[in-house]
Amino acid sequence: MKVDGKEMRPIWFERASETVQVIDQRFLPHELIIKDLNTVDDVIHAIKEMVVRGAPLIGATGALGVYVSLVQENNGGANNQDLETECDRIKDARPTAMNLFWGVDRVRDAALTETDYDARVKAALAEALDVVEEEAVNGQQIGRHGLSIIEDISRKKGGKPVNILTHCNAGWLACVEYGTATAPIYTAFDHHIDVHVWVDETRPLNQGARLTAWELGKHGIHHTVITDNAGGHLMQHGMVDVVMVGTDRTTRAGDVANKIGTYLKALAARDNNIPFYVALPSSTFDWDITDGINDIPIEERDPDEVRYVQGLCHGKVQTVLLPPENSPAANPAFDVTPARLVTGFITERGVCNATEADIMALFPEKRMG
Ligand code: MRU
Repeated sequence: MKVDGKEMRPIWFERASETVQVIDQRFLPHELIIKDLNTVDDVIHAIKEMVVRGAPLIGATGALGVYVSLVQENNGGANNQDLETECDRIKDARPTAMNLFWGVDRVRDAALTETDYDARVKAALAEALDVVEEEAVNGQQIGRHGLSIIEDISRKKGGKPVNILTHCNAGWLACVEYGTATAPIYTAFDHHIDVHVWVDETRPLNQGARLTAWELGKHGIHHTVITDNAGGHLMQHGMVDVVMVGTDRTTRAGDVANKIGTYLKALAARDNNIPFYVALPSSTFDWDITDGINDIPIEERDPDEVRYVQGLCHGKVQTVLLPPENSPAANPAFDVTPARLVTGFITERGVCNATEADIMALFPEKRMG
Protein backbone atom coordinates (compact mmCIF):
# COMPACT_ATOMS: atom_id res chain seq x y z
CA MET A 1 0.00 0.00 0.00
CA LYS A 2 1.14 3.57 -0.49
CA VAL A 3 2.77 5.70 2.22
CA ASP A 4 3.36 9.25 1.03
CA GLY A 5 3.36 8.06 -2.58
CA LYS A 6 5.77 5.15 -1.98
CA GLU A 7 4.70 1.48 -2.12
CA MET A 8 5.32 -0.14 1.28
CA ARG A 9 4.75 -3.43 2.98
CA PRO A 10 5.33 -4.15 6.69
CA ILE A 11 7.87 -6.86 5.76
CA TRP A 12 10.08 -7.52 2.74
CA PHE A 13 13.26 -9.29 1.62
CA GLU A 14 15.91 -6.84 0.43
CA ARG A 15 17.58 -8.74 -2.42
CA ALA A 16 20.71 -6.56 -2.64
CA SER A 17 21.72 -7.14 0.99
CA GLU A 18 19.82 -10.45 1.37
CA THR A 19 18.18 -9.06 4.50
CA VAL A 20 14.70 -9.39 5.98
CA GLN A 21 13.41 -5.91 6.79
CA VAL A 22 10.31 -4.76 8.67
CA ILE A 23 8.60 -1.56 9.70
CA ASP A 24 9.10 -1.17 13.45
CA GLN A 25 5.45 -0.70 14.41
CA ARG A 26 6.28 0.31 17.99
CA PHE A 27 7.11 3.81 16.80
CA LEU A 28 4.16 4.45 14.48
CA PRO A 29 2.45 6.80 13.83
CA HIS A 30 5.07 9.29 14.93
CA GLU A 31 8.21 7.73 13.45
CA LEU A 32 8.68 5.41 10.46
CA ILE A 33 11.64 3.21 11.41
CA ILE A 34 12.88 0.22 9.41
CA LYS A 35 14.57 -2.67 11.21
CA ASP A 36 16.75 -5.54 9.93
CA LEU A 37 16.10 -9.07 11.20
CA ASN A 38 19.50 -10.79 10.94
CA THR A 39 19.23 -13.56 13.53
CA VAL A 40 16.58 -15.80 15.03
CA ASP A 41 16.90 -13.76 18.22
CA ASP A 42 16.03 -10.64 16.17
CA VAL A 43 13.00 -12.46 14.74
CA ILE A 44 11.82 -13.64 18.18
CA HIS A 45 12.34 -10.20 19.69
CA ALA A 46 10.41 -8.58 16.81
CA ILE A 47 7.43 -10.90 17.31
CA LYS A 48 7.42 -10.83 21.14
CA GLU A 49 7.90 -7.07 21.49
CA MET A 50 5.45 -6.30 18.68
CA VAL A 51 7.88 -4.67 16.29
CA VAL A 52 5.69 -6.76 13.97
CA ARG A 53 2.23 -7.85 15.03
CA GLY A 54 -1.10 -8.95 13.58
CA ALA A 55 -1.72 -12.60 12.76
CA PRO A 56 -0.82 -12.79 9.04
CA LEU A 57 2.28 -10.63 9.53
CA ILE A 58 3.44 -12.76 12.46
CA GLY A 59 3.03 -15.76 10.14
CA ALA A 60 5.05 -14.10 7.37
CA THR A 61 7.76 -13.09 9.86
CA GLY A 62 7.94 -16.61 11.27
CA ALA A 63 8.20 -17.99 7.72
CA LEU A 64 11.12 -15.69 6.86
CA GLY A 65 12.53 -16.41 10.33
CA VAL A 66 13.10 -20.04 9.32
CA TYR A 67 15.19 -18.81 6.38
CA VAL A 68 17.07 -16.49 8.78
CA SER A 69 17.79 -19.47 11.06
CA LEU A 70 19.62 -21.14 8.16
CA VAL A 71 21.74 -18.18 7.12
CA GLN A 72 22.44 -16.42 10.43
CA GLU A 73 26.08 -16.05 11.36
CA ASN A 74 26.31 -18.98 13.77
CA ASN A 75 24.27 -21.06 11.32
CA GLY A 76 21.93 -22.32 14.05
CA GLY A 77 19.58 -24.23 11.76
CA ALA A 78 22.03 -25.97 9.46
CA ASN A 79 21.26 -29.58 10.50
CA ASN A 80 17.83 -31.10 11.03
CA GLN A 81 17.92 -31.00 14.82
CA ASP A 82 19.13 -27.39 14.91
CA LEU A 83 16.48 -26.40 12.40
CA GLU A 84 13.73 -27.97 14.54
CA THR A 85 15.09 -26.24 17.65
CA GLU A 86 15.17 -22.84 15.97
CA CYS A 87 11.64 -23.34 14.57
CA ASP A 88 10.34 -24.24 18.03
CA ARG A 89 11.97 -21.13 19.48
CA ILE A 90 10.27 -18.94 16.87
CA LYS A 91 6.89 -20.63 17.46
CA ASP A 92 7.22 -19.95 21.21
CA ALA A 93 7.38 -16.18 20.63
CA ARG A 94 3.60 -15.62 20.85
CA PRO A 95 0.91 -18.22 21.62
CA THR A 96 -2.39 -17.07 20.11
CA ALA A 97 -1.99 -16.25 16.41
CA MET A 98 -2.36 -19.46 14.42
CA ASN A 99 -0.46 -18.05 11.46
CA LEU A 100 2.86 -18.22 13.32
CA PHE A 101 2.76 -22.03 13.60
CA TRP A 102 1.38 -22.36 10.07
CA GLY A 103 4.10 -20.14 8.53
CA VAL A 104 7.01 -21.68 10.43
CA ASP A 105 5.92 -25.29 9.81
CA ARG A 106 5.38 -24.65 6.13
CA VAL A 107 8.90 -23.29 5.57
CA ARG A 108 10.49 -25.91 7.86
CA ASP A 109 8.82 -28.69 5.83
CA ALA A 110 10.02 -27.13 2.56
CA ALA A 111 13.57 -26.82 3.93
CA LEU A 112 13.58 -30.44 5.12
CA THR A 113 12.91 -31.70 1.59
CA GLU A 114 16.55 -30.75 0.81
CA THR A 115 19.68 -32.20 2.41
CA ASP A 116 22.30 -30.09 0.64
CA TYR A 117 22.81 -26.84 2.59
CA ASP A 118 22.60 -24.40 -0.35
CA ALA A 119 19.51 -26.14 -1.72
CA ARG A 120 17.96 -26.03 1.75
CA VAL A 121 18.51 -22.28 2.06
CA LYS A 122 17.11 -21.72 -1.42
CA ALA A 123 14.01 -23.84 -0.68
CA ALA A 124 13.38 -22.05 2.62
CA LEU A 125 13.63 -18.60 1.06
CA ALA A 126 11.40 -19.54 -1.89
CA GLU A 127 8.73 -20.98 0.41
CA ALA A 128 8.86 -18.02 2.81
CA LEU A 129 8.48 -15.57 -0.07
CA ASP A 130 5.54 -17.65 -1.35
CA VAL A 131 3.91 -17.27 2.08
CA VAL A 132 4.37 -13.49 1.90
CA GLU A 133 2.99 -13.24 -1.65
CA GLU A 134 0.06 -15.56 -0.90
CA GLU A 135 -0.94 -13.44 2.08
CA ALA A 136 -0.79 -10.34 -0.15
CA VAL A 137 -3.15 -12.02 -2.63
CA ASN A 138 -5.39 -13.25 0.21
CA GLY A 139 -5.82 -9.65 1.39
CA GLN A 140 -6.81 -8.59 -2.11
CA GLN A 141 -9.32 -11.46 -2.40
CA ILE A 142 -10.81 -10.75 1.04
CA GLY A 143 -11.31 -7.18 -0.16
CA ARG A 144 -13.01 -8.34 -3.34
CA HIS A 145 -15.40 -10.67 -1.48
CA GLY A 146 -16.13 -8.19 1.33
CA LEU A 147 -16.87 -5.40 -1.11
CA SER A 148 -20.37 -6.76 -1.80
CA ILE A 149 -21.28 -6.42 1.91
CA ILE A 150 -20.39 -2.74 1.92
CA GLU A 151 -21.95 -2.19 -1.52
CA ASP A 152 -25.28 -3.63 -0.29
CA ILE A 153 -25.34 -1.34 2.74
CA SER A 154 -24.41 1.67 0.61
CA ARG A 155 -27.22 0.85 -1.85
CA LYS A 156 -29.76 0.48 0.99
CA LYS A 157 -28.61 3.85 2.40
CA GLY A 158 -29.01 5.54 -0.98
CA GLY A 159 -25.28 6.28 -1.23
CA LYS A 160 -25.01 7.91 2.22
CA PRO A 161 -21.73 7.09 4.04
CA VAL A 162 -21.40 3.51 5.28
CA ASN A 163 -20.23 3.58 8.91
CA ILE A 164 -17.93 0.67 9.73
CA LEU A 165 -16.61 0.00 13.22
CA THR A 166 -13.31 -1.84 13.57
CA HIS A 167 -11.22 -2.96 16.53
CA CYS A 168 -7.43 -3.18 16.83
CA ASN A 169 -5.40 -3.04 13.62
CA ALA A 170 -6.43 -5.59 11.04
CA GLY A 171 -5.01 -3.51 8.21
CA TRP A 172 -2.09 -3.95 5.83
CA LEU A 173 0.30 -3.31 8.71
CA ALA A 174 -1.03 -6.50 10.33
CA CYS A 175 -0.86 -8.48 7.10
CA VAL A 176 1.08 -7.86 3.91
CA GLU A 177 -1.29 -5.91 1.66
CA TYR A 178 -4.87 -4.60 2.14
CA GLY A 179 -5.34 -6.23 5.56
CA THR A 180 -8.20 -8.43 6.61
CA ALA A 181 -10.95 -6.27 8.17
CA THR A 182 -9.72 -3.22 6.25
CA ALA A 183 -9.46 -4.98 2.88
CA PRO A 184 -13.19 -4.58 2.05
CA ILE A 185 -12.96 -0.98 3.27
CA TYR A 186 -10.01 -0.12 0.99
CA THR A 187 -11.71 -1.90 -1.90
CA ALA A 188 -15.00 -0.06 -1.32
CA PHE A 189 -13.16 3.28 -1.11
CA ASP A 190 -11.29 2.50 -4.34
CA HIS A 191 -14.72 1.77 -5.92
CA HIS A 192 -15.84 5.27 -4.89
CA ILE A 193 -18.24 4.07 -2.18
CA ASP A 194 -18.58 6.63 0.61
CA VAL A 195 -17.16 4.96 3.75
CA HIS A 196 -16.42 6.22 7.24
CA VAL A 197 -14.58 4.11 9.82
CA TRP A 198 -15.01 4.24 13.60
CA VAL A 199 -11.58 3.25 14.88
CA ASP A 200 -11.53 1.75 18.40
CA GLU A 201 -8.34 3.04 20.03
CA THR A 202 -7.74 -0.51 21.39
CA ARG A 203 -6.09 -0.30 24.74
CA PRO A 204 -3.60 -1.21 26.03
CA LEU A 205 -1.24 -0.76 23.07
CA ASN A 206 -3.61 1.38 21.00
CA GLN A 207 -3.16 -0.45 17.70
CA GLY A 208 -6.37 1.26 16.50
CA ALA A 209 -5.43 4.82 17.40
CA ARG A 210 -1.80 4.43 16.34
CA LEU A 211 -1.86 2.05 13.39
CA THR A 212 -5.36 1.79 11.88
CA ALA A 213 -5.83 5.56 12.00
CA TRP A 214 -2.39 6.02 10.40
CA GLU A 215 -2.92 3.65 7.52
CA LEU A 216 -6.50 4.75 6.80
CA GLY A 217 -5.33 8.36 6.84
CA LYS A 218 -2.48 7.61 4.42
CA HIS A 219 -5.07 6.13 2.02
CA GLY A 220 -7.38 9.14 2.41
CA ILE A 221 -10.16 7.21 4.16
CA HIS A 222 -12.51 9.22 6.38
CA HIS A 223 -12.19 7.88 9.93
CA THR A 224 -12.73 8.85 13.57
CA VAL A 225 -10.83 7.44 16.57
CA ILE A 226 -13.11 6.52 19.50
CA THR A 227 -12.51 5.11 22.96
CA ASP A 228 -13.00 1.38 23.29
CA ASN A 229 -16.15 2.00 25.33
CA ALA A 230 -17.90 4.23 22.78
CA GLY A 231 -19.00 1.57 20.27
CA GLY A 232 -22.14 0.38 22.11
CA HIS A 233 -23.43 3.93 22.43
CA LEU A 234 -22.83 4.63 18.72
CA MET A 235 -24.63 1.41 17.80
CA GLN A 236 -27.67 2.34 19.92
CA HIS A 237 -27.91 5.61 18.01
CA GLY A 238 -27.78 4.15 14.50
CA MET A 239 -24.25 5.40 13.87
CA VAL A 240 -22.72 2.00 13.01
CA ASP A 241 -23.89 0.04 9.94
CA VAL A 242 -21.52 -2.91 10.23
CA VAL A 243 -18.66 -4.17 12.41
CA MET A 244 -15.61 -5.67 10.68
CA VAL A 245 -12.73 -7.18 12.63
CA GLY A 246 -9.83 -9.54 12.03
CA THR A 247 -8.85 -12.59 14.06
CA ASP A 248 -5.74 -14.27 15.43
CA ARG A 249 -7.20 -17.77 15.52
CA THR A 250 -10.60 -19.11 14.51
CA THR A 251 -11.77 -22.64 15.22
CA ARG A 252 -13.24 -24.93 12.55
CA ALA A 253 -16.62 -24.33 14.23
CA GLY A 254 -16.27 -20.53 13.96
CA ASP A 255 -15.24 -19.30 17.44
CA VAL A 256 -13.06 -16.23 16.97
CA ALA A 257 -10.06 -15.12 19.05
CA ASN A 258 -9.18 -11.49 18.43
CA LYS A 259 -7.78 -8.50 20.33
CA ILE A 260 -9.20 -8.07 23.82
CA GLY A 261 -12.52 -6.19 23.67
CA THR A 262 -13.75 -7.76 20.43
CA TYR A 263 -16.26 -9.94 22.33
CA LEU A 264 -17.92 -6.87 23.87
CA LYS A 265 -18.30 -5.32 20.41
CA ALA A 266 -19.93 -8.52 19.16
CA LEU A 267 -22.39 -8.50 22.09
CA ALA A 268 -23.30 -4.86 21.47
CA ALA A 269 -23.66 -5.52 17.73
CA ARG A 270 -26.03 -8.46 18.39
CA ASP A 271 -28.10 -6.40 20.85
CA ASN A 272 -28.48 -3.69 18.22
CA ASN A 273 -29.06 -6.00 15.24
CA ILE A 274 -25.88 -4.85 13.51
CA PRO A 275 -23.95 -7.32 11.31
CA PHE A 276 -20.64 -8.45 12.80
CA TYR A 277 -18.17 -9.80 10.20
CA VAL A 278 -14.78 -11.40 10.78
CA ALA A 279 -12.28 -11.24 7.90
CA LEU A 280 -9.48 -13.80 7.73
CA PRO A 281 -7.20 -15.74 5.43
CA SER A 282 -7.36 -19.54 5.73
CA SER A 283 -3.95 -19.48 7.48
CA THR A 284 -5.75 -18.16 10.59
CA PHE A 285 -8.13 -21.13 10.95
CA ASP A 286 -7.13 -23.73 13.53
CA TRP A 287 -8.58 -26.80 11.79
CA ASP A 288 -7.91 -29.04 14.82
CA ILE A 289 -10.18 -27.40 17.40
CA THR A 290 -13.86 -26.47 17.73
CA ASP A 291 -14.16 -24.91 21.20
CA GLY A 292 -12.50 -21.50 21.14
CA ILE A 293 -13.16 -20.57 24.76
CA ASN A 294 -11.51 -23.68 26.16
CA ASP A 295 -8.95 -24.51 23.48
CA ILE A 296 -7.47 -21.25 22.17
CA PRO A 297 -4.47 -20.17 24.30
CA ILE A 298 -4.87 -16.55 25.32
CA GLU A 299 -1.64 -14.60 25.66
CA GLU A 300 -1.08 -12.80 28.98
CA ARG A 301 1.21 -9.85 28.34
CA ASP A 302 3.26 -7.63 30.62
CA PRO A 303 0.96 -5.63 32.95
CA ASP A 304 3.18 -2.61 32.31
CA GLU A 305 1.51 -2.33 28.89
CA VAL A 306 -1.68 -1.45 30.83
CA ARG A 307 0.04 0.74 33.41
CA TYR A 308 1.94 2.89 30.92
CA VAL A 309 0.85 4.70 27.75
CA GLN A 310 3.05 6.00 24.97
CA GLY A 311 2.51 9.16 22.91
CA LEU A 312 4.05 12.25 21.43
CA CYS A 313 4.98 14.93 23.95
CA HIS A 314 6.74 18.15 22.91
CA GLY A 315 7.80 16.46 19.66
CA LYS A 316 9.24 13.35 21.35
CA VAL A 317 7.71 9.87 21.82
CA GLN A 318 7.40 9.40 25.58
CA THR A 319 5.93 6.87 28.00
CA VAL A 320 3.91 7.87 31.07
CA LEU A 321 2.47 5.97 34.06
CA LEU A 322 -1.35 6.03 34.40
CA PRO A 323 -2.52 4.28 37.62
CA PRO A 324 -1.08 4.65 41.12
CA GLU A 325 2.49 3.36 41.21
CA ASN A 326 1.57 0.31 43.32
CA SER A 327 -1.73 -0.75 41.74
CA PRO A 328 -1.42 -4.16 40.09
CA ALA A 329 -2.67 -4.58 36.51
CA ALA A 330 -3.65 -7.56 34.34
CA ASN A 331 -3.21 -7.83 30.61
CA PRO A 332 -5.04 -10.64 28.74
CA ALA A 333 -4.29 -9.76 25.10
CA PHE A 334 -7.18 -11.54 23.34
CA ASP A 335 -10.72 -12.75 23.94
CA VAL A 336 -12.98 -15.24 22.21
CA THR A 337 -16.20 -14.32 20.45
CA PRO A 338 -18.45 -17.39 20.13
CA ALA A 339 -19.52 -18.30 16.59
CA ARG A 340 -23.18 -17.59 17.45
CA LEU A 341 -22.37 -13.84 17.60
CA VAL A 342 -20.62 -13.78 14.22
CA THR A 343 -22.71 -12.88 11.15
CA GLY A 344 -20.16 -14.26 8.71
CA PHE A 345 -16.56 -14.83 7.67
CA ILE A 346 -14.93 -13.02 4.78
CA THR A 347 -12.17 -15.27 3.44
CA GLU A 348 -10.04 -15.41 0.31
CA ARG A 349 -12.48 -17.99 -1.06
CA GLY A 350 -15.67 -16.07 -0.35
CA VAL A 351 -18.11 -15.18 2.43
CA CYS A 352 -19.73 -17.85 4.60
CA ASN A 353 -21.83 -18.22 7.74
CA ALA A 354 -20.07 -18.91 11.02
CA THR A 355 -20.89 -22.60 11.19
CA GLU A 356 -18.63 -25.60 10.74
CA ALA A 357 -20.75 -26.84 7.81
CA ASP A 358 -20.49 -23.53 5.95
CA ILE A 359 -16.76 -23.13 6.66
CA MET A 360 -16.20 -26.67 5.37
CA ALA A 361 -18.21 -25.91 2.25
CA LEU A 362 -15.61 -23.23 1.42
CA PHE A 363 -12.65 -25.39 2.52
CA PRO A 364 -13.76 -28.96 1.67
CA GLU A 365 -10.16 -30.26 1.87
CA LYS A 366 -10.34 -29.66 5.67
CA ARG A 367 -13.31 -32.00 6.20
CA MET A 368 -12.55 -34.64 8.80
CA GLY A 369 -12.79 -38.39 8.09
O1 MRU B 1 -1.54 -8.10 19.58
P1 MRU B 1 -1.65 -7.85 18.11
O2 MRU B 1 -1.50 -6.42 17.72
O3 MRU B 1 -0.75 -8.78 17.32
O4 MRU B 1 -3.14 -8.26 17.78
C1 MRU B 1 -3.60 -8.15 16.47
C2 MRU B 1 -5.04 -8.41 16.35
O5 MRU B 1 -5.71 -8.77 17.30
C3 MRU B 1 -5.64 -8.30 14.97
O6 MRU B 1 -6.97 -7.89 15.06
C4 MRU B 1 -5.59 -9.68 14.34
O7 MRU B 1 -4.28 -10.16 14.27
C5 MRU B 1 -6.21 -9.70 13.02
S1 MRU B 1 -5.05 -9.14 11.85
C6 MRU B 1 -5.32 -9.00 10.38
